[in-house]
Amino acid sequence: MREIRVAVPDRPYVVRIERGASASLGRLLGPLGRSRLAVVSSPTIWDKHRDRIRPGLADLAWTEVLVADGERQKNARTLQRLYDAFVTARLGRDGLVVAIGGGVIGDIAGFAAATYMRGVDWVGVPTTLLAMVDSSVGGKVCINHPRVKNMIGAFHQPRAVIVDPAFLGTLPARQRQTGAYEVLKCGIIGDRGLFDALRQAPPSLEGWDAEKLDEAIASACRLKANVVGKDEREGDLRRVLNLGHTLGHAFEAVTEYRRFTHGEAVGWGLVAAAALARRRGLLSADDFEEIASAVDGLGPRPRLGLAPERVLDAVARDKKAREGRVPFVLPTAIGAVTIVPDVTTGEILAVLDELAQRRTPARRRG
Ligand SMILES: NC(=O)c1ccc[n+]([C@@H]2O[C@H](COP(=O)([O-])OP(=O)(O)OC[C@H]3O[C@@H](n4cnc5c(N)ncnc54)[C@H](O)[C@@H]3O)[C@@H](O)[C@H]2O)c1
Ligand SMILES: [Zn+2]
Repeated sequence: MREIRVAVPDRPYVVRIERGASASLGRLLGPLGRSRLAVVSSPTIWDKHRDRIRPGLADLAWTEVLVADGERQKNARTLQRLYDAFVTARLGRDGLVVAIGGGVIGDIAGFAAATYMRGVDWVGVPTTLLAMVDSSVGGKVCINHPRVKNMIGAFHQPRAVIVDPAFLGTLPARQRQTGAYEVLKCGIIGDRGLFDALRQAPPSLEGWDAEKLDEAIASACRLKANVVGKDEREGDLRRVLNLGHTLGHAFEAVTEYRRFTHGEAVGWGLVAAAALARRRGLLSADDFEEIASAVDGLGPRPRLGLAPERVLDAVARDKKAREGRVPFVLPTAIGAVTIVPDVTTGEILAVLDELAQRRTPARRRG
Protein backbone atom coordinates (compact mmCIF):
# COMPACT_ATOMS: atom_id res chain seq x y z
CA MET A 1 0.00 0.00 0.00
CA ARG A 2 1.27 3.46 -0.89
CA GLU A 3 -0.05 6.81 0.32
CA ILE A 4 0.55 10.17 -1.27
CA ARG A 5 -0.49 13.39 0.42
CA VAL A 6 -1.91 16.14 -1.73
CA ALA A 7 -1.11 19.20 0.35
CA VAL A 8 -3.63 21.70 -1.01
CA PRO A 9 -3.94 24.56 1.51
CA ASP A 10 -7.49 24.19 2.85
CA ARG A 11 -8.18 20.51 2.61
CA PRO A 12 -5.21 18.22 2.18
CA TYR A 13 -6.08 14.65 1.26
CA VAL A 14 -4.49 11.33 0.58
CA VAL A 15 -4.24 9.22 -2.55
CA ARG A 16 -4.15 5.62 -1.40
CA ILE A 17 -2.81 3.08 -3.86
CA GLU A 18 -3.70 -0.43 -2.83
CA ARG A 19 -4.45 -3.53 -4.85
CA GLY A 20 -7.84 -4.88 -3.86
CA ALA A 21 -8.94 -1.69 -2.07
CA SER A 22 -12.15 -1.50 -4.08
CA ALA A 23 -13.40 -4.61 -2.28
CA SER A 24 -13.26 -2.82 1.06
CA LEU A 25 -14.58 0.64 0.36
CA GLY A 26 -16.73 0.45 3.50
CA ARG A 27 -13.66 0.02 5.69
CA LEU A 28 -11.91 2.89 3.94
CA LEU A 29 -14.88 5.26 3.79
CA GLY A 30 -16.46 4.32 7.14
CA PRO A 31 -14.14 6.61 9.15
CA LEU A 32 -15.53 9.62 7.26
CA GLY A 33 -18.74 8.94 9.21
CA ARG A 34 -21.26 9.74 6.49
CA SER A 35 -24.97 9.05 6.83
CA ARG A 36 -25.46 8.33 3.14
CA LEU A 37 -23.43 7.68 0.00
CA ALA A 38 -24.26 8.13 -3.68
CA VAL A 39 -22.08 5.85 -5.77
CA VAL A 40 -21.74 7.11 -9.34
CA SER A 41 -20.39 4.67 -11.92
CA SER A 42 -20.98 3.39 -15.45
CA PRO A 43 -22.71 0.19 -16.64
CA THR A 44 -19.44 -1.14 -18.13
CA ILE A 45 -17.56 -0.81 -14.87
CA TRP A 46 -20.48 -1.94 -12.78
CA ASP A 47 -20.94 -5.10 -14.90
CA LYS A 48 -17.34 -6.08 -14.47
CA HIS A 49 -16.70 -5.04 -10.89
CA ARG A 50 -19.90 -4.67 -8.88
CA ASP A 51 -19.69 -8.17 -7.41
CA ARG A 52 -16.41 -7.22 -5.85
CA ILE A 53 -17.44 -3.72 -4.77
CA ARG A 54 -20.92 -4.28 -3.35
CA PRO A 55 -20.13 -6.59 -0.40
CA GLY A 56 -17.58 -4.08 0.88
CA LEU A 57 -20.28 -1.38 1.05
CA ALA A 58 -22.78 -3.56 2.91
CA ASP A 59 -22.49 -1.68 6.21
CA LEU A 60 -23.20 1.72 4.69
CA ALA A 61 -26.41 3.36 3.43
CA TRP A 62 -25.76 3.89 -0.25
CA THR A 63 -27.47 4.24 -3.61
CA GLU A 64 -26.01 3.70 -7.05
CA VAL A 65 -26.41 5.99 -10.05
CA LEU A 66 -25.11 4.75 -13.39
CA VAL A 67 -24.06 7.07 -16.21
CA ALA A 68 -23.74 5.63 -19.72
CA ASP A 69 -20.26 5.50 -21.25
CA GLY A 70 -18.65 8.19 -23.27
CA GLU A 71 -17.44 11.75 -23.29
CA ARG A 72 -20.82 12.84 -24.69
CA GLN A 73 -22.47 12.00 -21.38
CA LYS A 74 -20.44 14.68 -19.61
CA ASN A 75 -23.25 17.18 -20.13
CA ALA A 76 -25.90 19.20 -18.31
CA ARG A 77 -28.59 16.54 -18.84
CA THR A 78 -26.57 13.89 -17.08
CA LEU A 79 -25.75 16.37 -14.35
CA GLN A 80 -29.48 16.96 -13.82
CA ARG A 81 -29.97 13.18 -13.55
CA LEU A 82 -27.34 13.03 -10.84
CA TYR A 83 -29.00 15.85 -8.88
CA ASP A 84 -32.34 14.03 -9.23
CA ALA A 85 -30.83 10.84 -7.89
CA PHE A 86 -29.19 12.68 -4.99
CA VAL A 87 -32.47 14.36 -4.05
CA THR A 88 -34.38 11.07 -4.31
CA ALA A 89 -31.78 9.38 -2.12
CA ARG A 90 -32.05 12.28 0.38
CA LEU A 91 -28.37 12.92 0.17
CA GLY A 92 -27.77 15.65 2.74
CA ARG A 93 -24.95 18.04 3.44
CA ASP A 94 -23.08 15.28 5.24
CA GLY A 95 -23.58 12.90 2.33
CA LEU A 96 -20.73 11.63 0.21
CA VAL A 97 -20.48 11.19 -3.55
CA VAL A 98 -18.25 8.29 -4.56
CA ALA A 99 -17.14 8.34 -8.21
CA ILE A 100 -16.10 4.89 -9.42
CA GLY A 101 -14.96 5.19 -13.02
CA GLY A 102 -12.73 6.82 -15.58
CA GLY A 103 -12.19 10.53 -16.07
CA VAL A 104 -15.69 11.09 -17.43
CA ILE A 105 -17.34 9.74 -14.28
CA GLY A 106 -14.87 11.54 -12.02
CA ASP A 107 -15.35 14.87 -13.76
CA ILE A 108 -19.15 14.82 -13.76
CA ALA A 109 -19.66 13.23 -10.35
CA GLY A 110 -17.08 15.62 -8.89
CA PHE A 111 -18.85 18.59 -10.49
CA ALA A 112 -22.22 17.36 -9.22
CA ALA A 113 -20.68 17.14 -5.73
CA ALA A 114 -19.18 20.63 -6.10
CA THR A 115 -22.56 22.18 -6.84
CA TYR A 116 -25.20 20.04 -5.07
CA MET A 117 -26.22 21.89 -1.87
CA ARG A 118 -23.37 24.34 -2.63
CA GLY A 119 -20.90 21.54 -2.28
CA VAL A 120 -20.82 18.10 -0.68
CA ASP A 121 -17.77 15.92 -0.23
CA TRP A 122 -16.65 13.38 -2.78
CA VAL A 123 -14.18 10.54 -3.07
CA GLY A 124 -12.58 9.40 -6.31
CA VAL A 125 -12.15 5.72 -7.11
CA PRO A 126 -10.51 5.86 -10.55
CA THR A 127 -10.78 2.81 -12.79
CA THR A 128 -8.74 3.86 -15.85
CA LEU A 129 -5.01 4.47 -15.83
CA LEU A 130 -5.61 8.02 -17.07
CA ALA A 131 -7.97 8.73 -14.18
CA MET A 132 -5.59 7.14 -11.65
CA VAL A 133 -2.61 9.28 -12.60
CA ASP A 134 -4.27 12.41 -13.87
CA SER A 135 -7.91 13.36 -13.54
CA SER A 136 -8.55 12.09 -10.01
CA VAL A 137 -5.75 14.18 -8.48
CA GLY A 138 -6.04 17.94 -8.49
CA GLY A 139 -9.69 18.75 -7.91
CA LYS A 140 -10.59 20.00 -11.38
CA VAL A 141 -14.17 18.88 -12.04
CA CYS A 142 -16.37 19.80 -14.97
CA ILE A 143 -18.89 19.09 -17.69
CA ASN A 144 -18.72 19.98 -21.38
CA HIS A 145 -20.55 22.84 -23.06
CA PRO A 146 -22.24 21.63 -26.27
CA ARG A 147 -19.57 23.51 -28.23
CA VAL A 148 -16.56 23.48 -25.89
CA LYS A 149 -15.05 20.62 -23.94
CA ASN A 150 -14.56 21.01 -20.17
CA MET A 151 -16.00 24.55 -20.28
CA ILE A 152 -18.15 24.51 -17.15
CA GLY A 153 -16.46 23.48 -13.98
CA ALA A 154 -15.04 24.11 -10.56
CA PHE A 155 -12.13 23.34 -8.32
CA HIS A 156 -13.44 20.88 -5.76
CA GLN A 157 -10.84 18.68 -4.16
CA PRO A 158 -11.93 15.17 -3.21
CA ARG A 159 -11.76 14.06 0.44
CA ALA A 160 -9.71 11.07 -0.65
CA VAL A 161 -8.68 9.14 -3.73
CA ILE A 162 -8.61 5.36 -3.59
CA VAL A 163 -6.62 3.77 -6.40
CA ASP A 164 -7.05 0.05 -6.91
CA PRO A 165 -4.76 -0.99 -9.80
CA ALA A 166 -6.71 -4.26 -10.05
CA PHE A 167 -9.29 -2.31 -12.10
CA LEU A 168 -6.75 -2.12 -14.90
CA GLY A 169 -7.06 -5.86 -15.47
CA THR A 170 -10.30 -5.30 -17.40
CA LEU A 171 -9.30 -2.08 -19.13
CA PRO A 172 -8.90 -2.43 -22.92
CA ALA A 173 -5.27 -2.20 -24.12
CA ARG A 174 -5.82 1.03 -26.03
CA GLN A 175 -7.19 2.70 -22.89
CA ARG A 176 -4.20 1.48 -20.89
CA GLN A 177 -1.88 2.86 -23.53
CA THR A 178 -3.64 6.22 -23.45
CA GLY A 179 -2.96 6.53 -19.73
CA ALA A 180 0.63 5.43 -20.19
CA TYR A 181 1.41 8.59 -22.20
CA GLU A 182 0.32 10.68 -19.19
CA VAL A 183 2.61 8.63 -16.96
CA LEU A 184 5.46 9.15 -19.42
CA LYS A 185 4.65 12.87 -19.42
CA CYS A 186 5.19 12.95 -15.65
CA GLY A 187 8.56 11.26 -16.09
CA ILE A 188 9.67 13.86 -18.64
CA ILE A 189 8.44 16.74 -16.46
CA GLY A 190 10.29 15.72 -13.35
CA ASP A 191 11.09 12.07 -12.70
CA ARG A 192 13.92 10.45 -14.63
CA GLY A 193 13.46 7.18 -12.71
CA LEU A 194 9.85 6.95 -13.80
CA PHE A 195 10.86 7.68 -17.39
CA ASP A 196 13.47 4.90 -17.28
CA ALA A 197 10.98 2.46 -15.78
CA LEU A 198 8.54 3.12 -18.61
CA ARG A 199 11.30 2.60 -21.18
CA GLN A 200 11.45 -1.00 -19.92
CA ALA A 201 7.68 -1.52 -19.96
CA PRO A 202 5.94 -3.59 -22.63
CA PRO A 203 3.77 -1.81 -25.26
CA SER A 204 0.45 -0.65 -23.79
CA LEU A 205 1.85 -1.96 -20.48
CA GLU A 206 0.33 -5.33 -21.39
CA GLY A 207 1.32 -7.89 -18.78
CA TRP A 208 3.68 -5.47 -17.00
CA ASP A 209 4.87 -6.54 -13.59
CA ALA A 210 2.21 -5.49 -11.04
CA GLU A 211 4.74 -4.05 -8.59
CA LYS A 212 6.35 -1.91 -11.29
CA LEU A 213 2.97 -0.75 -12.54
CA ASP A 214 1.85 0.22 -9.03
CA GLU A 215 5.10 2.10 -8.44
CA ALA A 216 4.73 3.95 -11.76
CA ILE A 217 1.17 4.96 -10.83
CA ALA A 218 2.43 6.17 -7.45
CA SER A 219 5.29 8.13 -9.01
CA ALA A 220 2.98 9.86 -11.47
CA CYS A 221 0.50 10.70 -8.70
CA ARG A 222 3.36 11.97 -6.53
CA LEU A 223 4.51 14.34 -9.26
CA LYS A 224 1.02 15.66 -9.88
CA ALA A 225 0.35 15.92 -6.12
CA ASN A 226 3.53 17.95 -5.64
CA VAL A 227 2.64 20.38 -8.37
CA VAL A 228 -0.99 20.72 -7.32
CA GLY A 229 0.02 21.12 -3.67
CA LYS A 230 2.11 24.14 -4.58
CA ASP A 231 -0.32 25.61 -7.09
CA GLU A 232 -3.92 24.54 -6.65
CA ARG A 233 -5.50 27.06 -9.02
CA GLU A 234 -3.33 26.75 -12.08
CA GLY A 235 -0.91 29.59 -11.78
CA ASP A 236 2.43 29.20 -13.51
CA LEU A 237 3.65 26.10 -11.74
CA ARG A 238 0.64 23.90 -12.49
CA ARG A 239 1.11 24.76 -16.15
CA VAL A 240 4.02 22.34 -16.39
CA LEU A 241 1.45 19.54 -16.34
CA ASN A 242 0.42 20.77 -19.76
CA LEU A 243 3.54 19.32 -21.37
CA GLY A 244 2.52 17.81 -24.71
CA HIS A 245 -1.02 19.12 -24.35
CA THR A 246 -0.92 22.39 -26.29
CA LEU A 247 -0.37 20.62 -29.60
CA GLY A 248 -2.03 17.44 -28.28
CA HIS A 249 -5.32 19.28 -27.74
CA ALA A 250 -4.99 20.84 -31.19
CA PHE A 251 -4.48 17.39 -32.77
CA GLU A 252 -7.61 16.14 -31.02
CA ALA A 253 -9.67 19.17 -32.02
CA VAL A 254 -8.61 19.10 -35.69
CA THR A 255 -9.58 15.43 -35.95
CA GLU A 256 -12.84 16.13 -34.10
CA TYR A 257 -11.86 13.84 -31.26
CA ARG A 258 -12.25 10.81 -33.51
CA ARG A 259 -8.82 9.75 -34.70
CA PHE A 260 -6.85 9.79 -31.47
CA THR A 261 -7.55 8.94 -27.90
CA HIS A 262 -6.51 11.81 -25.63
CA GLY A 263 -3.30 10.00 -24.68
CA GLU A 264 -2.34 9.22 -28.27
CA ALA A 265 -2.69 12.90 -29.14
CA VAL A 266 -0.59 13.76 -26.07
CA GLY A 267 1.98 11.19 -27.24
CA TRP A 268 2.34 13.15 -30.48
CA GLY A 269 2.31 16.36 -28.45
CA LEU A 270 5.22 15.12 -26.33
CA VAL A 271 7.30 14.38 -29.43
CA ALA A 272 6.34 17.77 -30.84
CA ALA A 273 7.32 19.60 -27.63
CA ALA A 274 10.65 17.76 -27.58
CA ALA A 275 11.26 18.70 -31.23
CA LEU A 276 10.44 22.37 -30.52
CA ALA A 277 12.88 22.30 -27.61
CA ARG A 278 15.64 20.66 -29.67
CA ARG A 279 15.21 23.23 -32.45
CA ARG A 280 15.68 26.03 -29.91
CA GLY A 281 18.78 24.39 -28.48
CA LEU A 282 17.02 23.77 -25.16
CA LEU A 283 17.17 19.97 -25.46
CA SER A 284 19.98 17.77 -26.75
CA ALA A 285 19.46 15.68 -29.88
CA ASP A 286 20.04 12.54 -27.79
CA ASP A 287 17.36 13.44 -25.26
CA PHE A 288 14.99 14.24 -28.11
CA GLU A 289 15.53 10.79 -29.62
CA GLU A 290 15.08 9.16 -26.25
CA ILE A 291 11.78 10.92 -25.66
CA ALA A 292 10.54 10.11 -29.17
CA SER A 293 11.44 6.45 -28.84
CA ALA A 294 9.91 6.23 -25.36
CA VAL A 295 6.65 7.52 -26.86
CA ASP A 296 6.92 5.01 -29.73
CA GLY A 297 7.71 2.23 -27.26
CA LEU A 298 4.28 2.53 -25.65
CA GLY A 299 2.70 1.09 -28.77
CA PRO A 300 1.30 2.06 -32.15
CA ARG A 301 -0.74 5.22 -32.55
CA PRO A 302 -2.71 6.72 -35.43
CA ARG A 303 -0.67 8.72 -37.93
CA LEU A 304 -0.60 12.51 -37.69
CA GLY A 305 -0.87 13.89 -41.25
CA LEU A 306 -2.95 16.99 -40.47
CA ALA A 307 -3.36 20.23 -42.41
CA PRO A 308 -0.84 22.56 -40.67
CA GLU A 309 -3.01 25.66 -40.95
CA ARG A 310 -5.86 23.88 -39.13
CA VAL A 311 -3.49 22.90 -36.33
CA LEU A 312 -2.29 26.51 -36.00
CA ASP A 313 -5.89 27.64 -35.89
CA ALA A 314 -6.69 25.20 -33.11
CA VAL A 315 -3.60 26.26 -31.14
CA ALA A 316 -4.69 29.91 -31.35
CA ARG A 317 -8.11 28.93 -29.99
CA ASP A 318 -6.57 27.17 -26.98
CA LYS A 319 -8.21 28.14 -23.68
CA LYS A 320 -4.81 29.26 -22.40
CA ALA A 321 -4.06 31.50 -25.40
CA ARG A 322 -3.47 35.18 -24.72
CA GLU A 323 -3.46 37.56 -27.68
CA GLY A 324 -3.08 34.65 -30.04
CA ARG A 325 0.02 33.31 -28.28
CA VAL A 326 0.03 30.14 -26.24
CA PRO A 327 2.77 29.44 -23.73
CA PHE A 328 4.48 26.12 -24.44
CA VAL A 329 5.93 23.80 -21.84
CA LEU A 330 9.15 22.42 -23.32
CA PRO A 331 11.54 19.78 -21.94
CA THR A 332 15.10 20.88 -21.25
CA ALA A 333 16.23 17.39 -20.22
CA ILE A 334 14.55 14.14 -19.24
CA GLY A 335 13.11 15.20 -15.91
CA ALA A 336 13.08 18.99 -16.41
CA VAL A 337 10.87 21.49 -18.25
CA THR A 338 10.61 25.21 -18.84
CA ILE A 339 7.82 27.49 -20.02
CA VAL A 340 8.44 29.31 -23.28
CA PRO A 341 6.04 32.19 -24.06
CA ASP A 342 7.19 33.06 -27.56
CA VAL A 343 7.04 29.93 -29.75
CA THR A 344 6.43 31.19 -33.27
CA THR A 345 4.13 29.94 -35.99
CA GLY A 346 7.20 29.18 -38.08
CA GLU A 347 8.61 26.89 -35.39
CA ILE A 348 5.33 25.01 -35.07
CA LEU A 349 5.10 24.57 -38.85
CA ALA A 350 8.65 23.23 -38.99
CA VAL A 351 7.90 20.70 -36.26
CA LEU A 352 4.65 19.57 -37.89
CA ASP A 353 6.60 19.00 -41.08
CA GLU A 354 9.25 17.04 -39.19
CA LEU A 355 6.63 14.90 -37.45
CA ALA A 356 4.86 14.18 -40.72
CA GLN A 357 8.11 12.67 -42.04
CA ARG A 358 8.76 10.61 -38.95
CA ARG A 359 8.34 6.87 -39.11
CA THR A 360 6.36 5.67 -36.10
CA PRO A 361 4.63 2.43 -35.31
CA ALA A 362 1.20 2.89 -36.91
CA ARG A 363 -1.99 1.64 -35.34
CA ARG A 364 -4.19 -0.52 -37.53
CA ARG A 365 -7.66 0.83 -38.13
CA GLY A 366 -10.40 -0.34 -35.78
N1 LIG B 1 -10.22 16.66 -14.17
C1 LIG B 1 -9.04 16.54 -14.70
O1 LIG B 1 -8.04 17.06 -14.18
C2 LIG B 1 -8.88 15.74 -15.94
C3 LIG B 1 -7.61 15.41 -16.41
C4 LIG B 1 -7.52 14.61 -17.54
C5 LIG B 1 -8.66 14.17 -18.18
N2 LIG B 1 -9.89 14.51 -17.72
C6 LIG B 1 -11.11 14.03 -18.38
O2 LIG B 1 -11.13 12.61 -18.29
C7 LIG B 1 -11.91 12.10 -19.35
C8 LIG B 1 -11.21 10.91 -19.97
O3 LIG B 1 -11.06 9.93 -18.97
P1 LIG B 1 -10.74 8.40 -19.33
O4 LIG B 1 -9.64 8.34 -20.30
O5 LIG B 1 -10.63 7.72 -18.04
O6 LIG B 1 -12.01 7.96 -20.17
P2 LIG B 1 -13.45 7.41 -19.78
O7 LIG B 1 -13.86 7.84 -18.44
O8 LIG B 1 -14.33 7.75 -20.92
O9 LIG B 1 -13.24 5.84 -19.74
C9 LIG B 1 -12.86 5.18 -20.93
C10 LIG B 1 -13.69 3.93 -21.17
O10 LIG B 1 -13.19 2.88 -20.37
C11 LIG B 1 -14.26 2.24 -19.66
N3 LIG B 1 -13.68 1.77 -18.41
C12 LIG B 1 -13.30 2.51 -17.35
N4 LIG B 1 -12.71 1.74 -16.44
C13 LIG B 1 -12.72 0.47 -16.91
C14 LIG B 1 -12.22 -0.76 -16.43
N5 LIG B 1 -11.57 -0.84 -15.27
N6 LIG B 1 -12.41 -1.86 -17.19
C15 LIG B 1 -13.04 -1.78 -18.38
N7 LIG B 1 -13.51 -0.63 -18.91
C16 LIG B 1 -13.34 0.49 -18.17
C17 LIG B 1 -15.28 3.32 -19.49
O11 LIG B 1 -16.53 2.74 -19.28
C18 LIG B 1 -15.16 4.06 -20.83
O12 LIG B 1 -15.90 3.41 -21.82
C19 LIG B 1 -12.14 13.25 -20.31
O13 LIG B 1 -13.46 13.69 -20.19
C20 LIG B 1 -11.17 14.32 -19.84
O14 LIG B 1 -11.64 15.61 -20.11
C21 LIG B 1 -10.01 15.27 -16.60
ZN1 LIG C 1 -4.00 14.81 -20.49
